Amino acid sequence: MEFFIDTAIVDEIREINEWGVLSGVTTNPSLIVASGRDFREVVLEIAEMVGGAISAEVTSLDAAGMIKEGKEVAAWHKDVVVKLPLTPAGLQACKALTREGIKTNVTLCFSVPQALLAARAGATYISPFAGRVDDVGWDGIELIRQIKEAYVLGDIQTKVLAASIRHPMHVQQAALAGADVATIPYKVFTQMIKHPLTQAGLDGFMKDWAKRAGASPETP
Ligand code: E4P
Repeated sequence: MEFFIDTAIVDEIREINEWGVLSGVTTNPSLIVASGRDFREVVLEIAEMVGGAISAEVTSLDAAGMIKEGKEVAAWHKDVVVKLPLTPAGLQACKALTREGIKTNVTLCFSVPQALLAARAGATYISPFAGRVDDVGWDGIELIRQIKEAYVLGDIQTKVLAASIRHPMHVQQAALAGADVATIPYKVFTQMIKHPLTQAGLDGFMKDWAKRAGASPETP
């Protein structure tokens, strides 16, 4: 399973990108506003930094507007993936942009039938929102598992992009459910890397290392 980061804050992206684990970035209109940056400027800065799939979402609600906007944002950089909502207009725009060779991420997916429709419209990625499904008392990870199963049975190439990830266990469960990619908030990356036994083990190794012959506190 690949990792994307779900943020438009460049300092967060830079830090996690330096770990060498990122294959892309997802943004949405709320995340762009939270960054306080100009849409095009921040998407370009992210694209130059990461070198992977960068999702940029359209804000038109009609198909013609989405297609126009989609072509514009796709022209900003070769790595831009046009993010479209799972509506009739979004599907229409997905089909039109796919025909032009533009990659798409169909977002706000909450059911297997929706995911099947997006795949038929040519979506490169489908984004089921695990956390928001959990929030309303259903099982977001089970949704991801069922979408992947339906795609495998139908020999569908659309990639399952687990979104609305809230904690490290979601990441583990999404991988085991067959997600191709998980888009993960900065905070969850920082939680994923921590384990008390890793720190305790490292502290022990360093303490022993300092005891070797000729060692001084200044020479680690
Ligand atoms: C997906 O691409 C969305 O940006 C995101 O995962 C939504 O997550 P949220 O439910 O935490 O807002």
